[in-house]
Amino acid sequence: RAADFVRIVEVGPRDGLQNEKTSIPVDTKIELVERLAQTGLRTIEAGSFVSPKWVPQMANSSDILQHILASPPKSAAPITYQWLLPNVRGLDNFLSAWEAKTSSTSMKDNADSASPLPETELSIFTAATESFTQKNTNCSIDESLARFEPIMSRAKDLDLPVRAYISVALGCPYEGPNVDPHKVAELAVSLLEMGADEISVADTTGMGTAPKTAELLKTLSAAGIEKNDLALHFHDTYGMALVNTVVALEHGIRTFDAAVAGLGGCPFSPGATGNVATEDLVHLVHSLGAKTGVDIEKLAEVGEWISKEIGRSNESSAGKATLAR
Ligand code: HMG
Ligand code: MG
Repeated sequence: RAADFVRIVEVGPRDGLQNEKTSIPVDTKIELVERLAQTGLRTIEAGSFVSPKWVPQMANSSDILQHILASPPKSAAPITYQWLLPNVRGLDNFLSAWEAKTSSTSMKDNADSASPLPETELSIFTAATESFTQKNTNCSIDESLARFEPIMSRAKDLDLPVRAYISVALGCPYEGPNVDPHKVAELAVSLLEMGADEISVADTTGMGTAPKTAELLKTLSAAGIEKNDLALHFHDTYGMALVNTVVALEHGIRTFDAAVAGLGGCPFSPGATGNVATEDLVHLVHSLGAKTGVDIEKLAEVGEWISKEIGRSNESSAGKATLAR
């Protein structure tokens, strides 16, 4: 990865939509993924295999996965699709769609086919506080790690990379703003030792500030965690996401999660608003002379389209300004 390239993980179709109260038609979700694919984004988290009782909005992720595998969206650059899952049940549900397709069309044997299957990755998630882990996944932090062992070993057998999220790393809705950075580091080390390919450190509540972000990143470095193994996932609840992004860029981090139009919120983090808007992140990175590969005009159009489609206001300043030019 070139030093001046910033990799963006677009989480809009998953984190962005999971908290919407009205059921969004699966065709709209697929169209969102297809439109995002044409903007130059290279990684899209497209859905989750969680309990539909807990997060009803994600119940049709299997349909989205099947659609993407059957007719990979046309894209400006090759795309990796990520799928979030909390337990072996989620992995089984994912695999029933994925294995059906991959056993008929092997990704490797079919390397020169006209439309090879898109790259696929799995995401697992735990949190830096016990209260949030209980509210989000009904288990303790240690139990969440134990759930990951069989997921990780099966993912390795299938050659599927695994990203691991650590939620509430900069503030918890139940335990307050002062989350211990050493706990985040300890978890990140455990997840990497278990075989995670990337850790996405999440500011679920948006309580992060520039000094807290710097302290967390120093603590992660001191624990021996490489910058290339980290992504940062900022929610913009207090409007601090871009400030914290600059701190992280200065620290050498080059992967950031974002959601088009600033969609989103976590169902188990009361009051949390969306992720940092992808358009704003792209504008920031380009303003610093670095590259994302993303066409901000095309992306701004997608942000405006999905906001109208689901009846939300477009939360991206750069998106709206780009469209008004
Ligand atoms: P539980 O109730 O303790 O689990 O939930 P259970 O094993 O007792 O299962 C309850 C029912 O769900 C059973 O069905 C299971 O079969 C079913 P029943 O027998 O009652 O009919 N079930 C499932 N169904 C489909 N897919 C599955 C699955 N697992 C069980 N994977 C559980 C435990 C982990 C399942 C639940 O708490 C859960 O699904 N939690 C997910 C919550 C979630 O999706 N949160 C949002 C995503 S994380 C996030 O947004 C943060 C992030 O963006 C970073 C950040 O910003 O912080 C990543
Ligand atoms: Mg999130």
